[in-house]
Amino acid sequence: MRNDVHFGREVKGILLGCKRYWGIIAAGLVCAMLSAALTVIGPHLIARITGYIEQGLVAGEIDLGGVTRVAFVLIAVYALGGLATYFQQFAMSTAANYLGREMRGELMKKINRLPLCYFDRHNFGDTLSRITNDVDSVAQSLNVSIGNIVNAAAMLVGCLVMMFFTQWVMAFTAIGTTLLGSLLSVILMKCSQRYFNRRQESLAHVNAHVEEYYAGQSVVRLYNAEESARELFDGGNENLRKNTLKAEFMGGLMMPIMTLTGNLGYVAVCIVGAALAFGGAVGFDAIVAFMLYIRLFTSPLGQLANGFSGMQSAVAANRRVREFMEEEELSDESHKKEKLQSVKGDVTFSHVRFGYEEGKTVIGDFSAEIKAGQKVAIVGPTGAGKTTLVGLLMRFYEPNSGRIEVDGVPISSMKREDVHDLFGMVLQDTWLFEGTVRENLTYGKQVSDEKLIEILSLCGLGHFVKTLPQGLDTVLDDNVSISAGQKQLFTIARAMAEDAPMLILDEATSSVDTRTELKIRRAMDELTVGRTSFVIAHRLSTVQGSDVILFLKDGDVKETGTHEELLRKGGLYAELYKSQFARA
Ligand SMILES: Nc1ncnc2c1ncn2[C@@H]1O[C@H](COP(=O)(O)OP(=O)(O)OP(=O)(O)O)[C@@H](O)[C@H]1O
Ligand SMILES: [Mg+2]
Repeated sequence: MRNDVHFGREVKGILLGCKRYWGIIAAGLVCAMLSAALTVIGPHLIARITGYIEQGLVAGEIDLGGVTRVAFVLIAVYALGGLATYFQQFAMSTAANYLGREMRGELMKKINRLPLCYFDRHNFGDTLSRITNDVDSVAQSLNVSIGNIVNAAAMLVGCLVMMFFTQWVMAFTAIGTTLLGSLLSVILMKCSQRYFNRRQESLAHVNAHVEEYYAGQSVVRLYNAEESARELFDGGNENLRKNTLKAEFMGGLMMPIMTLTGNLGYVAVCIVGAALAFGGAVGFDAIVAFMLYIRLFTSPLGQLANGFSGMQSAVAANRRVREFMEEEELSDESHKKEKLQSVKGDVTFSHVRFGYEEGKTVIGDFSAEIKAGQKVAIVGPTGAGKTTLVGLLMRFYEPNSGRIEVDGVPISSMKREDVHDLFGMVLQDTWLFEGTVRENLTYGKQVSDEKLIEILSLCGLGHFVKTLPQGLDTVLDDNVSISAGQKQLFTIARAMAEDAPMLILDEATSSVDTRTELKIRRAMDELTVGRTSFVIAHRLSTVQGSDVILFLKDGDVKETGTHEELLRKGGLYAELYKSQFARA
């Protein structure tokens, strides 16, 4: 019920959100009203025909001309009504589709403006659901609910007017029985809502279980846990059956009750009509008209109820979309003018302090001076803050204090995109998207095929790509199986193809065999001649040849020097090296 509090505000928000489509929406709503008005006129005309027949029975001769005239008008009215309904649906669904597209576009743009810490705090499924399901729900409610509400309201008013215009006693009779039926169905709806909610919950439960079970299939088999997993599933499955049955039983009562009250309405109108006709107050035509009005009068009530419940889910969905749109964004940097024209590659960290959350420092007081062209290795235990450090260098996150400079220019005075352009990076988490090999490597940049093939063979992927059915044009999707190591090789090739002035490799070769690693290292050495590069690795053999090694622990540099110097020093690095060497 919390949603109801802001119902009006949220609906206003939805309507303001589609400001650009107001014209087309207004046209749709006019059509909705027109279609309602035309539908309501129908019974009146039919009653006119009945009137002709009644008179004909009395006079012994039917005015066929009059009947034909009215019949033609009736056909025209219904045809126009159909046309108006069609245009209503067309206009509303056009507006809804445009709105959906616009909202999805806005949400996607918003993702690019969010700071990375947003993604640390929110789960992917939830955000995905906002962009797809919630937007869809808002658009659909615009499409269906608003049109239906307007159409039903117009029909209701039209029916009332026409009924009172025809005969007020019968009008009250019809309204009375209909309201009684509606009251019953509202009570029933309230009672059954609980069961429908429970059914949705059990359904979600079963879905979640299937998803989890599917994803963790290998673990389930590894631990022979099929039996217990199935037992768990069976419980949820049985629950779903029970709740669905209850919901459908309650829901199933609705139709008979509605039909029954509708039919009782006929009986009431017939009896009252007969009594009135006996006194000469009404003719058969009025009774026939009322039979039809009762039908027309009950349908918009149901339509209104549906429309409002549709609006309710749209309001809930819109709130979720709005929440996302109101998330704090990255600061605007359009005023920043600093840009490095030719990059030398000096990188300075001075007294950098950083923590992801307040009060929890990850990098304590980090200072380092890296000369252009140096190969820098960052080593240290798991959780020391190595990835965090390069994240700061890339401006994925902003330091709490201290500064980072490239060629003497603080990176905070440059635009984020310009900082990203300075570095080619292989992230610790490999990521390939569904696209061709070429798209995955070039990311929209212009690189010739020869160059790509050369890079691929340098990375040890030449043979693999050659065996793919369409070579560079093969789409990397679920049909192409890629090993964890091959994924890493692809991301290295991507960084090579980017050809940026500096390079960051975060555990880039951790899943690759040592021989391939050696090959890549050679290729890298060639590639990084004269370029500043940062290499993070647990496997110390990877970083032996570096110009300088920073040993990081608890967010501070504990030791600096070359491999030989650090070994001679016999400190933390030497210890780590010895332990790895001993294992080998
Ligand atoms: N997105 C994040 N939000 C909050 N805390 C984080 C986040 N990423 C890392 N941390 C924390 O920061 C600390 C340093 O993490 P970081 O990823 O930099 O370590 P690392 O040295 O790269 O470790 P590894 O060798 O395992 O890759 C860890 O204690 C980790 O829990
Ligand atoms: Mg890391």
